Amino acid sequence: MSSKTSVEVLFVCLGNICRSPTAEVLFRHLVVSEGLAEAIHIDSAGTGDWHIGKPPDRRSQEVALQRGHDISELRARQVSAEDFHRFDYIIAMDTQNLANLEAMKPADFKGHLGLLLSFGHSDEREVPDPYYGGEEGFYHVIELIEDAVHGLLDDIRKHYLSS
Ligand code: 4NP
Repeated sequence: MSSKTSVEVLFVCLGNICRSPTAEVLFRHLVVSEGLAEAIHIDSAGTGDWHIGKPPDRRSQEVALQRGHDISELRARQVSAEDFHRFDYIIAMDTQNLANLEAMKPADFKGHLGLLLSFGHSDEREVPDPYYGGEEGFYHVIELIEDAVHGLLDDIRKHYLSS
């Protein structure tokens, strides 16, 4: 954390309207419930630019709301070079997002860049893109994310918050 007083976490997918906004809100819920809202700041972005300024996909909104999370106020943005100076954790949903982020990563980036599911218990490596599939894909996405955010918080506690 060096001179900073908070850990900055960015979730990244392709469009920033399905997976990464879901991860942002689920992780924020966990962080707030653990009393860590001041210590951990959370955002999300997409590698693509098609949906900039748009709210999350209606299907993502519905599935999140069924679990008690209102994600309707979020607005999509595109990941930028500046994000590598601001964030300590840049967490990709799939290997294509990760490859795109690796290509953007400046040589002096000292943070963690990796896949969300590396923190989860699933055998799956990626949170699959649900956009062109059916409703069931959105339930699968939220289940994978719900599991992995706990492991992410454990990692942050271990590296930044332990006294
Ligand atoms: P996301 O899903 O990356 O989880 O937000 C997608 C959203 C939009 C598109 C692809 C994936 N798209 O091709 O527009």
